[in-house]
Amino acid sequence: MTRPRPEIPPSGGKASLVRGIFARIAGRYDLLNSLLSLGLHQPWRRRAAAHLGLHQGSRVVDLCCGTGDLTAVLAHQVGPENVVGVDFVPEMLERARLRHPELRFVEGDALATGLPGESFDGASVAFALRNVEDVEALFREMARLIRPEGRVVSLELTRPSGLLGCLHGLVLRWLVPLVGRLFSGQGGAYRYLARSIAEFISVEEVADIMHQAGLEDIRIVPLNGGIVTLHLGRKPAHG
Ligand SMILES: C[S@@+](CC[C@H](N)C(=O)[O-])C[C@H]1O[C@@H](n2cnc3c(N)ncnc32)[C@H](O)[C@@H]1O
Repeated sequence: MTRPRPEIPPSGGKASLVRGIFARIAGRYDLLNSLLSLGLHQPWRRRAAAHLGLHQGSRVVDLCCGTGDLTAVLAHQVGPENVVGVDFVPEMLERARLRHPELRFVEGDALATGLPGESFDGASVAFALRNVEDVEALFREMARLIRPEGRVVSLELTRPSGLLGCLHGLVLRWLVPLVGRLFSGQGGAYRYLARSIAEFISVEEVADIMHQAGLEDIRIVPLNGGIVTLHLGRKPAHG
């Protein structure tokens, strides 16, 4: 059963809400990422990239690439000319291009990139499932973009269970908006981001959606007690 998500605007409104938030926080996004994850976000990205099974010369697309951190990790594996990052917020892409001038970043909607189908060996998305209007459409686009037997990975902030879950709930409710306000002056934006984690569908529901989007061999890999989760999948072979 779908849980009600009162704070998330109805269809059509979410994309513009998300665009506005990331346009406002782009300048402080990387600093806040490092502070709020205690520096763990980079090892998480490396774990995500490793699961794509890429090598020098593989082609890979990083959807909702933001300021390009995961795109850069992927470029290290495949070579800078073989990776493309896609995001729909120009302010985030501007920072990505400043930080990684050697990489290719394209402004576009991750749900309909317009890039040619079956032109990549792998596709990734990090910390963005909660932000897209339609999670299944995102995975469908990833599946369309990769070749048969190509792999997809999603890295996402999730809710741990048990005692860690209680502590995590308090951090989301109080600490994230406070740190967001102090370091970026955007407490409201960070309240939204914290709420989007608390209210997002379960990791099992994400796996079901990947399946519906046409992917197979789906695996759920929790990291650091479930604070973040990798979802892995593969496009079926032809026939
Ligand atoms: C939390 S940031 C994650 C950025 C990056 N993947 C990272 O690992 O730091 C979410 C990003 O998703 C982008 N985004 C959300 N919905 C999108 C869509 N439909 N098309 C393209 N980008 C989108 C936002 O602009 C933002 O840059």
